[in-house]
Amino acid sequence: MTDLFDLTGKTALVTGGAQGLGRMIAEGLLRAGASVAITSRKADICEAAAAEMAALGKCIALPCDLASPEAAVELATRVRSTFGGKLHVIVNNAGKTWGGPLDSFPDKAWPGVMMVNVQAPFTLIRELLPELQAAASAEDPARVINIGSVAGKVTERLSAYSYSASKAAIHMLSRDLAGDLAQRNINVNVVMPGFFPTKMTAHLRDDEVADPAVLAHIPMRRMGREDEIAGVIVFLASRAGSYVTGAEIPVDGGVVGCG
Ligand SMILES: NC(=O)c1ccc[n+]([C@@H]2O[C@H](COP(=O)([O-])OP(=O)(O)OC[C@H]3O[C@@H](n4cnc5c(N)ncnc54)[C@H](OP(=O)(O)O)[C@@H]3O)[C@@H](O)[C@H]2O)c1
Repeated sequence: MTDLFDLTGKTALVTGGAQGLGRMIAEGLLRAGASVAITSRKADICEAAAAEMAALGKCIALPCDLASPEAAVELATRVRSTFGGKLHVIVNNAGKTWGGPLDSFPDKAWPGVMMVNVQAPFTLIRELLPELQAAASAEDPARVINIGSVAGKVTERLSAYSYSASKAAIHMLSRDLAGDLAQRNINVNVVMPGFFPTKMTAHLRDDEVADPAVLAHIPMRRMGREDEIAGVIVFLASRAGSYVTGAEIPVDGGVVGCG
């Protein structure tokens, strides 16, 4: 049973893996036995995080700002040479948000958010298709896991217009790609986190104490924990998840499912 979730010998890329949810995900994949490449915009932060995670397994720092398609192409080139032509798992986790009142919501809040949350994942997947295919078989497909959000599924009144639209877009893109890539033995799924304590949700918390008004909308009345995001990703990356593709999986204490 334990080898159902074993990732020994697998290679994985986690964008934004130096901190926040990406760090939780990278640590989960490492603990399950995978070699993991992580990205961060800042080289020193990326190197430091990879060095800390080296205690768990092989972790490689690939600093990168996914602010343009060219940067995503260049990252793919480095992933290719890092893992010798085979990539078993991509977790497109890096994400950008922008919040502001509707009447003054600026046009500049759109291109950067759409780039990091939608176009960069697409470009990375496209560029790394040969490596994913090289790692894939009908028995054990390669896995693309895109991090969406409950904000792309239900209206949350967060005034994060470009963010929620970008997350709905990555959900649909993932299902489109899942259909196109099933015959190539590449599974594509979306994980939709709810409310986890990271930098992105700092404005909804006072240190580790969540705003009661936010918790009131969560059926389980609490934030998510590290193991609860890592566990779902390890499941999707492992033999246990090999028959799952085109799925949108909420990890949100019931927000989407109970709504
Ligand atoms: N926390 C939640 O409750 C929650 C809920 C729903 C969905 N999510 C999603 O989960 C993912 C991770 O977010 P988080 O909560 O961990 O927030 P976070 O702590 O703010 O992390 C955002 C991550 O994205 C990376 N990133 C941002 N802009 C980037 C760029 N231009 N190029 C490359 N990387 C960039 C950051 O890397 P560096 O800062 O290291 O460069 C960081 O690792 C996002 O896709 C987010 O939308 C989070």
